[in-house]
Amino acid sequence: MNRAALVTCGLPYVNGPAHIAHLRTYVPADIFVRLLRKLGQEVVFICGSDTHGTPITVKAEAEGVTPLEIIKEYHKHFLEFFPRMGIRFTNYGSTDHPLNHSRTIQIMDDLRENGHVYANDLKLPYCPNCDRFLPDRYQKGTCPHCGASARGDECDQGCGRYLEPGELIDTRCGICSTKPEKRETRHYFLKLTTFEGFLTEYLQGLDGTEIARNYAKKWVEGGLKDWNITRNLDWGIKVPGEPGLVYYVWVDAPIGYIASTEEWAERTGGNWKYYWKGEGSLIHFIGPGIIYHHCLFWPSMLKGAGYNVPDAVIASGTMKVEGHVFSKSRGYVIWVEEDYLEKGLDPDALRYYIASYTGHNRDLDFAWHAYGEKVNKELVGTLGNFLYRTILFAHRNYQSVPEGKVDPMVMAEVENTIEKIRDGLDEYEFKKIADSIIGLAAYGNRYLQSGEPWKLTKTDPEKAAETIHNCLWLIKALAVLMEAIFPFKAKEVWRQLGTPKKDTLMSEALMPLDAGTPIAKPTPIFEQVSKETIAELSELVSKRIEEASG
Ligand code: MF3
Ligand code: ZN
Repeated sequence: MNRAALVTCGLPYVNGPAHIAHLRTYVPADIFVRLLRKLGQEVVFICGSDTHGTPITVKAEAEGVTPLEIIKEYHKHFLEFFPRMGIRFTNYGSTDHPLNHSRTIQIMDDLRENGHVYANDLKLPYCPNCDRFLPDRYQKGTCPHCGASARGDECDQGCGRYLEPGELIDTRCGICSTKPEKRETRHYFLKLTTFEGFLTEYLQGLDGTEIARNYAKKWVEGGLKDWNITRNLDWGIKVPGEPGLVYYVWVDAPIGYIASTEEWAERTGGNWKYYWKGEGSLIHFIGPGIIYHHCLFWPSMLKGAGYNVPDAVIASGTMKVEGHVFSKSRGYVIWVEEDYLEKGLDPDALRYYIASYTGHNRDLDFAWHAYGEKVNKELVGTLGNFLYRTILFAHRNYQSVPEGKVDPMVMAEVENTIEKIRDGLDEYEFKKIADSIIGLAAYGNRYLQSGEPWKLTKTDPEKAAETIHNCLWLIKALAVLMEAIFPFKAKEVWRQLGTPKKDTLMSEALMPLDAGTPIAKPTPIFEQVSKETIAELSELVSKRIEEASG
């Protein structure tokens, strides 16, 4: 893992504000990137707005505005939102950027030249009332695989399969519910079937989470179909020479990863080809609903056009809200800006919740009462308590870092924590990382408690100072180690230690602490969340769920 890495996050559709399920991808990815950098690895961290496809046009039509107005509004929202959550991309681009238009056309031309694309005339659903074809989200019906109600390109409420145009049964127009007729239209296909051998072998060696590999393997074993890569729409990247036809959003969206890297390269003189055609490693963080696209379509496109293929796909488990699968339409949603940040709640506490709730492959439930408990017990009770007690004691008794030598046991504890963090990184287990940090703080509390420096200041002042030196040294280690999960709070800890710092290297955790650095009176780093606040916030979700069902 020492080649420079390009890490990406699934691009958000810019058709609405950021919600908690977004964070399930972006927070772990940001933690991952910050830790790789701490270990000295060079990383380019890429994201951007997904601006095309029916998720955007349906929303625009519903609001009576143009797609361009929608994407402008929410592109700005996301651009400003990510830093507020401490998520720092090297470049946050847009799939409507000219570089993405040209890269998409280029890659599709390459695929055609290499014999991977062919045209075919199809009979597809057409709504006589709306006078249009019904691509993707303009169509509702029944999943042919599992019988659940589904939309045109995805069995979103049942088996989760990707659906080809024309596959849905019992179709209706998603806008006016008219039964569609069939009309002939020309489309283009990627010969996915010829990539079967490549994919089988590729998936054997693909790094990342189990969930990504296992689903993808199962789908290849179940047999592949050629992939329709065009849609009858005006909004999107136009297919040259085919009026009324654009490339399917799932063609130009992942190519947006490349274009966003090119934006970065243009801006900074960086080398985008190193990552996409050279030695760099390629790592994608995604949600569980888009494994098919990232593990089957995308590697095939890249391979067929002569680009590097992803080294790792890190798909998360499902996001839940108050025990139910996340669903905007059913009210099981937390809008991060409105419901969280604007209530004055702490971004780092939410990052911690997401990292520490469960394993990355598993279901993560966001529930307000669990949030309150975690914050009060683990952040205030354990981590915050150790920081505050130690720094307050140091301030009162010494006003600065007292002299002392680092106890080998304390040193070993930090080394051990670093080891666990490295394991967590290798295994994509962010919970292991979060737990090891709280574990180190718990150790600090025990060390302070059993050292009883408050009893020793008179009888054995040297021993008391030694204990506090060790506790402060532990806090410095914590400031280094906690920064990936708690970037804002880590800054505050450094400030309280009298040495403002950020983006420290992991090795700094084991370095000595300078005696004599002034220590000011601290304030608690983490704040309790009251029962009343939790009740209020839970109430808000309940109301939203009720409204959605009524
Ligand atoms: N916008 C898509 C979604 O929310 C994700 C696009 S990821 C990319 O499902 F690979 F296409 F960029
Ligand atoms: Zn299904």
